[in-house]
Amino acid sequence: MIENIAVLTSGGDAPGMNAAIRAVVRCGIDKGWRVFGVQNGYDGLIKGQLDPLGTRDVGGIMQQGGTILGSARSEEFTTIDGRTQAIRNLNRRGINALVVIGGNGSQAGSFELYQMGFPVVGIASTIDNDLVGSDITIGVDTALNIALEAIDRLKVTASSHQRAFILEVMGRNCGYLALAAGLAGGAEAITLPEKKTDPEEIAEALRLAYEHGKNHAIIVAAEGADYNAAKLTEFFVAHRERLGFSVRSTILGHVQRGGEPGASDRILASKLGYGAVEAIAREEFGVLTGLIRNNVTTTPFEKIVGKVKVLDKNLFELARLLD
Ligand code: F6P
Repeated sequence: MIENIAVLTSGGDAPGMNAAIRAVVRCGIDKGWRVFGVQNGYDGLIKGQLDPLGTRDVGGIMQQGGTILGSARSEEFTTIDGRTQAIRNLNRRGINALVVIGGNGSQAGSFELYQMGFPVVGIASTIDNDLVGSDITIGVDTALNIALEAIDRLKVTASSHQRAFILEVMGRNCGYLALAAGLAGGAEAITLPEKKTDPEEIAEALRLAYEHGKNHAIIVAAEGADYNAAKLTEFFVAHRERLGFSVRSTILGHVQRGGEPGASDRILASKLGYGAVEAIAREEFGVLTGLIRNNVTTTPFEKIVGKVKVLDKNLFELARLLD
């Protein structure tokens, strides 16, 4: 029988994590359980930093970016000793199930704990949108809108100076943010970790844009692409005369992670938080709670851990067609 559950946020923070915490706490309390919040992800679990959370403790947090619980990328948790200590702390506090709100690395951690016998349910949350088991993850929409705002602003200054801008967005292994921002922002070119870049092709796109009378050009580069902002700048500086435009570059970096969550992320996080609590109530453990075809769905960790979501190639072609 479930009496106590704990919730933690792990890995890169994502706008909407607080709404997920709020949903887990309030839905858990509604079931008659006590809900504990773990500080600083798996690090806090190893140190035994768990405190009870009441419904009022999670009031007024939905609109805040980041995570009130704190997050971490824990080295110690990757060791068997670290995980054993984490489970010992959970058992000592009488916790019957743990909810992990996080992305790929964090859910790999959830799977390890589950395989060691502890009941865990994950919630899909990362701005990267690289988790198999959820069509969209908590934080993506807000991060995307921040990238779009940057593109729109860069277009203004680019147009004043007839410049091309490279905007580097986050995504070490997954180019979803770059692709979606490039499509929605009308970029002339996009580089992705999943796709080999031909810089000559991009140079040609810029040259044509210039010849057709465009007064700006935008290239959205994923941080993990073979041609990120640094590599592209190097190439363009060497081929300046051919391009027409002069080039500047902006790295958006963690700005994308720090936004106030928009409506989509708040709603998604609330649904997934509720879904995770329902999974615990059914005693369905070892699963990730995500959104698949607009339904809150649970998928066993073994089907999602170690896998990378495949990017929709059609989106890339569409972005190219519409630039
Ligand atoms: O996983 C989310 C993410 O923002 C990635 O897009 C990025 O590569 C990484 O985290 C950065 O990690 P950190 O915040 O640890 O520098």
